[in-house]
Amino acid sequence: MGDTILTVKDLTVQFWVGDEWFTAVDKLSYTLKAGEVLAIVGESGSGKTQSSMSLLGLLPPTGRATGSANLKGTELVGMSIQELREIRGNEVSIIFQEPMTALNPVYTVGFQIVETLRTHYLMSPTVAKERAIELMTLVEIPSPADSFDKFPHQLSGGQRQRIMIAQALACEPKLLIADEPTTALDVTVQAEILKLMRDLRERVSAGIILITHDMGVVADMADRIIVMKDGVVVEHGTSQEIFKNPQHPYTQQLLAAVPHLAEHVDGDELSGPPQTIIMVDDVPVPLSEPRSDKPRPS
Ligand SMILES: Nc1ncnc2c1ncn2[C@@H]1O[C@H](COP(=O)(O)OP(=O)(O)O)[C@@H](O)[C@H]1O
Ligand SMILES: [Mg+2]
Repeated sequence: MGDTILTVKDLTVQFWVGDEWFTAVDKLSYTLKAGEVLAIVGESGSGKTQSSMSLLGLLPPTGRATGSANLKGTELVGMSIQELREIRGNEVSIIFQEPMTALNPVYTVGFQIVETLRTHYLMSPTVAKERAIELMTLVEIPSPADSFDKFPHQLSGGQRQRIMIAQALACEPKLLIADEPTTALDVTVQAEILKLMRDLRERVSAGIILITHDMGVVADMADRIIVMKDGVVVEHGTSQEIFKNPQHPYTQQLLAAVPHLAEHVDGDELSGPPQTIIMVDDVPVPLSEPRSDKPRPS
């Protein structure tokens, strides 16, 4: 595992509701290393999404963040919208739950990956197309050269999510945030995407934050797990610790909600691949040839 890329300290997110500040995330602290997968787990409303959105200036206007989030020496909390926009494009990628809302319905998926590439790198259209097809191959889109010219609605939900992942990997982010990346998919497709994420994890070196309400999703994927409830961290440990010896009743409850995991919680070795896993990720994706393109100076 590499250097620390993200250090979050006492991150607090609040929303102005009615006539007072509601605290959605209360003094969250963690660190993330390159190549590491940190899962943030908790039921709906526990503050998982807003804790990440706040890092990127994506809170709604009624929200505010305090505390500190240091991305490789850059303080994100309090940064201008303009600066954060650049960070979002270059250093950090996000994979959302619902790819249909993140992809533009009027452009082909290939064009959208090419646009992402050309926004970040000085690249000819031909080279960008080659690279886009490489990325589509990496995320196991069938017949990538043909799929390049398809519109989002012509692909299945699982394939759209693969395209989102390809797009997220395009700019080789240092940090990849995956917010419930498989929740909208049916169980079979979910398992396929999780397998892809596990495979990619071996091939890219970004730090990954995997957000999910489902412990089953993190079992094979996370190095460390933060369990959140009502905006507060109730438990934080290595995957091993959390799965083998969960301390907090809420963690035990989350584990019990995943039937095929619950039987292992007593301390048995986890055996066999769980049906779900997770992902998020990014970084220097090993491709067939080193690219000569230089990142566009910003
Ligand atoms: N725009 C908003 N205004 C007020 N409260 C919000 C807003 N967005 C989210 N919240 C609240 O913040 C809390 C955390 O939300 P969120 O991070 O989206 O939860 P999770 O991703 O864990 O489901 C919830 O109680 C939610 O209702
Ligand atoms: Mg959420």
